[in-house]
Amino acid sequence: MHKAEAWSGIGEIMRPGHFSDRENVDGARDSKRHMRQLGAAIFLVGLGALIIPATGCERATPTASPKSVVIAVSGDTAGWLTPCGCASNQAGGLPRRGTYLAGLRGGGGGADVLYLDAGGAAGGVSGYHRDKFEAILSGERAMGVAAHNLGKSELALGADALRDLVTRTGTPLVSANARGADGKPIAPAAREVEAGGRTFLVVGVVSPRYAANGITVSDPRAGVLDALAKFPASAKGRVVVVLAYLPEDELAALAAGLPEVDAVVGGPTGQAVAPRRVGPVLLAAATNKGKFLVRLDAPAGGAAWTGEVVEMGPKLADAADQTGNVRAFLDRLVQRDYSAKDTGVVEPPPPGTPAGFKVAGSAACAACHPADTAVWKQSKHAHAFDTIHGKGYQADASCQSCHTTGFAMPGGFDRMSIGTAKVHVGCESCHGPSAAHAASPAAARTPWRAADQCARCHDHENSPAFNYDTYWPKIAHDKGTGSGGR
Ligand code: HEC
Ligand code: HEC
Ligand code: HEC
Ligand code: HEC
Repeated sequence: MHKAEAWSGIGEIMRPGHFSDRENVDGARDSKRHMRQLGAAIFLVGLGALIIPATGCERATPTASPKSVVIAVSGDTAGWLTPCGCASNQAGGLPRRGTYLAGLRGGGGGADVLYLDAGGAAGGVSGYHRDKFEAILSGERAMGVAAHNLGKSELALGADALRDLVTRTGTPLVSANARGADGKPIAPAAREVEAGGRTFLVVGVVSPRYAANGITVSDPRAGVLDALAKFPASAKGRVVVVLAYLPEDELAALAAGLPEVDAVVGGPTGQAVAPRRVGPVLLAAATNKGKFLVRLDAPAGGAAWTGEVVEMGPKLADAADQTGNVRAFLDRLVQRDYSAKDTGVVEPPPPGTPAGFKVAGSAACAACHPADTAVWKQSKHAHAFDTIHGKGYQADASCQSCHTTGFAMPGGFDRMSIGTAKVHVGCESCHGPSAAHAASPAAARTPWRAADQCARCHDHENSPAFNYDTYWPKIAHDKGTGSGGR
């Protein structure tokens, strides 16, 4: 079995939580049972029936083959099908998620695994982002996802697109509080799943603040209570897990206001939240580009649950089927040949870019700047497109935006099916589109302050070690001052 990489750094909030305090948990469960019985009794009395339910607690009736259950929840994948590989220690990506889940399933513990997603998997609404979202969902289905909640980025795609997706792909979306403009639900409010001899009811909710594209979102708590009523528990009871795409304050308030449920897992909380107890409810969040999963262990026989946040770190190998899924997505991009506009990753040109600007290409600078060109040719910038090409990402706009020159610019390239003529990170990635300067150096200067451009590409995610004073000397070609313009 693959060993879980429990996160143990970065402060209190990230630390794995444990819930071995049996007495407390049992106490909490008892009060929950009372509440459930009360709720069920009121419900039944409301129907005019005089039946007292035998039990509302999932642990009261031992099943034939009780097994422990591991609930694994991903969230906020935000289009990160894979980490880009720009830096060596990046976490996340579906290929590692696949390996982690396969490890749980094949592990010696013999637990049943329930894999869920809290939502936020899409990276945008463009054709490119929709393709990527579908690839993420197809990867999740291959991992046996039992329910995928609608988060902010899913709602942004619109009700019709989401319904169409369910029809075409059978993705088990859930949402108890999002409705289309027609007032009809977009997906089932909840899904019932059998695991470890128990029934799990998985309910999905999203924050009303993420309503978009004609979709209306009602109060999450009311949505959950509604779903509980719509899916009544059987006599042997059930476990209720709420997938809640809510900011941290709303997430905590929801958990505090829902003693009826067993666990509430979000959501876009900035940092992952290790499982902790809010009254009788376990609260946790898996977030941040799918870099972390929440793992909850629900042992057979009703012992206390434990839980932790697990990092999808580089020590986890890539699962072959998931790598195949990524390849299929990249192949699709080659076929689609999106225009830059249709990728949704185009940023406006940096300040200083003149009207009527045009990219000339690095070859146009060589004759007048032979020394600078020689230095550049020795640098990694001069091979940046080969790097993504070698990995099959040559048509992926989210790589091209930093590993090429002239993306979505006049004189650069607009379609994804580009040759390598004007690409790599060329002179104009830093100096700006300079066709006017190349045509008439005395009349036009290069438009950008080059030293200010590094951070556009060398950001925290892609180049965590970046420091101008150590990086510039590796590409220095400003022999005049040696300062790199700073
Ligand atoms: C925001 C800009 C940005 C994006 C987007 C980006 N990269 Fe990078 N990439 C960089 C930078 C900057 C470096 C150099 C990092 C360093 O050495 O500090 C790099 C380095 C790399 C390297 C390591 C190259 C080497 O010489 O070791 C690989 C591989 C890579 N990127 C692949 C990708 C792929 C694949 C994608 C798309 C999925 C991508 N990159 C998207 C900026 C980016
Ligand atoms: C026809 C010759 C010629 C071509 C082609 C040319 N340059 Fe220049 N470039 C010059 C001259 C001459 C200067 C010096 C201007 C000065 O020092 O007053 C210069 C200055 C510069 C400077 C520093 C001052 C400034 O204007 O910003 C940069 C940067 C530069 N060139 C970049 C480029 C790039 C990038 C290209 C290719 C797109 C390019 N040059 C093409 C002749 C050329
Ligand atoms: C358009 C995006 C972009 C800009 C702007 C940019 N870089 Fe880079 N840089 C990259 C990419 C991509 C790589 C990785 C190339 C590869 O190996 O594929 C890289 C690699 C490097 C490397 C090589 C790192 C190593 O491991 O040897 C250095 C040094 C570097 N950049 C310095 C700079 C400096 C300094 C600036 C600003 C003056 C800058 N870069 C601006 C994209 C950019
Ligand atoms: C990764 C970013 C980057 C790339 C790529 C790059 N340069 Fe530069 N270049 C700089 C920086 C930073 C300076 C320092 C002075 C400045 O800010 O203009 C500089 C300085 C220069 C200067 C001297 C300016 C002066 O004031 O003395 C010239 C000329 C020049 N570059 C031409 C080129 C040419 C030609 C290419 C392509 C073969 C190229 N550069 C590629 C970042 C870059």
